[in-house]
Amino acid sequence: MLVIESSRQLQELSSRCLREGRSIAFVPTMGYLHQGHMSLLHEGRRRADVLIASIYVNPLQFGAAEDLARYPSSPHEDAERCRDAGVDILFQPGPEELYPEGFQTGVRAGSLAQGLCGASRRGHFDGVCTVVLKLFNLVRPRWAIFGSKDYQQLQVIRAMVRDFNLDVEVVGMPIVREGDGLAMSSRNAHLDREQRRQALCLSASLDEVERLIRAGERDVSRLAETVCELIAQQPLAEVDYVTVADADSLLPLQGTFTAPIVLALAVRFGDTRLIDNRIFSCLESAPLESSVGI
Ligand code: PAJ
Repeated sequence: MLVIESSRQLQELSSRCLREGRSIAFVPTMGYLHQGHMSLLHEGRRRADVLIASIYVNPLQFGAAEDLARYPSSPHEDAERCRDAGVDILFQPGPEELYPEGFQTGVRAGSLAQGLCGASRRGHFDGVCTVVLKLFNLVRPRWAIFGSKDYQQLQVIRAMVRDFNLDVEVVGMPIVREGDGLAMSSRNAHLDREQRRQALCLSASLDEVERLIRAGERDVSRLAETVCELIAQQPLAEVDYVTVADADSLLPLQGTFTAPIVLALAVRFGDTRLIDNRIFSCLESAPLESSVGI
């Protein structure tokens, strides 16, 4: 595995791969890798001749009051994990590499970025799109693999790829969970014992919604209320949002649902903000995308 810090070198290496007719899969991350990230790397490895991963904590997607400064990092362990997953090239740029002096152009994400996490994290998805577009231009992958744990991010990136005619296939992968249901996240490392215990209310409330839908419940506000009630039972949990939205447009829904929906939630435990989601189709009365438990 080659570990490189330079954008130019990355671009030269990927150009060479493409000239030689080798296909590239790309997995962008912010590091502190866990099994969720690993599932993306395995999928990339399965598809492509060349697997490229990046680790970069992108300052552009963090608000001034957010956790950029304390975002967890473990560069050596991450490199080991990438090697184990069969990564060919690991791009680990320094903080200045992607935004050198004079950098001034950005992507503005559209309506998909307005609700859910976009409402409480203004500008977040503009920052995500800007860095992902830069990385796509450096790597020029045939496949880019993302997790549906960040379902809104996945949809926003799909829209950017479509709107800018980018020649890349965005692949969405299921949410990987801990054995007890908590969605894996680098931010879980910040939870203390009691917060970690109470954080189970995110996945537990999605399980309860799944049970209700299987039993025939179709009223969107009743689903959201159920989630809010379950979370309110945990004294350390503070709801940021609980939203039932159309799974494609991400527009919030009211009344009875017919098309596939996403139930998405963000909950704070102290300074740590966790997200989770599940997709349901009323036809099947079951989630469309199953999660992977570890
Ligand atoms: P990061 O939070 O490191 O996540 C990198 C990728 O891993 C994303 O596609 C995310 O959805 C996926 N992922 C995280 N937890 C997961 C889980 N439990 N199961 C499955 N996939 C999971 O998302 C980012 O970084 C950044 O916004 C980035 C796209 C790299 C741009 O800076």
